[in-house]
Amino acid sequence: MAGSPVATVVPPLAQSVQEMSVNGNEPPPQYFLKENSIQPMDSFLPSDPIPIIDISLLSSSSLSSKGGEEELQKLKSTLTSWGCFQAVGHGLSSSFLDKVREVGKQFFALPVEEKEKYSRATDGIEGYGNDPILSENQVLDWSYRLFLRLQPVDQRKLRLWPENPTEFREVLDEYGTKVKIIMDVLLKAMAKSLNLEENSFSSQFGERAVMQTRFNFYLSCPRPDLVLGVKPHSDRSGITVLLQDKEVEGLQVFKDDKWFKVPVIPHALVVNLGDQMQIMSNGIFKSPIHRVVTNSERMRISVAMFNEPEPEKEIGPVEGLIDEKRPRLYRDVKNYASFNFECFQKGVVPLESAKI
Ligand code: OGA
Ligand code: NI
Repeated sequence: MAGSPVATVVPPLAQSVQEMSVNGNEPPPQYFLKENSIQPMDSFLPSDPIPIIDISLLSSSSLSSKGGEEELQKLKSTLTSWGCFQAVGHGLSSSFLDKVREVGKQFFALPVEEKEKYSRATDGIEGYGNDPILSENQVLDWSYRLFLRLQPVDQRKLRLWPENPTEFREVLDEYGTKVKIIMDVLLKAMAKSLNLEENSFSSQFGERAVMQTRFNFYLSCPRPDLVLGVKPHSDRSGITVLLQDKEVEGLQVFKDDKWFKVPVIPHALVVNLGDQMQIMSNGIFKSPIHRVVTNSERMRISVAMFNEPEPEKEIGPVEGLIDEKRPRLYRDVKNYASFNFECFQKGVVPLESAKI
């Protein structure tokens, strides 16, 4: 949703999510899902786990080994069916991942006034707060976010980067750099898995690809049967890397008409593709629909890193993936962030609108 200026059209609600969570107050109907309720769906959640991929086998030097070739085939079939997986072998230490979660939690634990120093402006995208309310019938998410742009570096709005805890900025900067390296390895491996030249996807991101982060804070909710942490959506990114809470589940992925839990694996990173990779892969790779459920007991944190092509660059299906059997599915698009936002306002699905 981020990427274009937004305007709040509806006055803020009487009580904040934080107040309702702490006091155990019934959320107002603006938070209720319009579909029946959430739990019955959960009752038929299959146990089929989302795939785990060892990405240490996907670096250029490992790919020629037997294990590398097998993992590459697994990557291809996973992205074709699920569009997401749990990545292990990514090289980031568990203590560093803990640190990333920790600085997020420490920021969120600050007094409201302190956090509000980093508030998202009413017409802005970056900063701390709830999602903007764009229409009266919008179903609200039971969450707080801290949304920040990391790259291009000259576009950082440092005044919105917390100074408390003191190591927040440094940890975020380091995490962003490390995740970017992982994403680059993955983009190359994805191209190779489809027998393409290895830069086929990464070259579409351009020199000034955009990297943004979202710290998601989900408080406990008295009505998990009616209220979601995040509504079903696909990411508009090219590729997303999500660090989940170490203990508390909540993320679910939609596949074959069912919701699948993404179990907690403390040292894993969840990788999912976004709409722009579905477009560049001519629909071969999927941008999965996912959502976050709430629970009445514990708070959950997650840290998402979104990487997407620079807005001025036209992206589209890679030539090598278009043939008579698989005609071009999507047209070329530029600035998918604003395209996505316009579609959202019109109530249409961006990926559908990008179809030929
Ligand atoms: C997101 C998202 C999932 C989560 O930030 O786009 O889907 O588990 N987050 O918080
Ligand atoms: Ni998402």
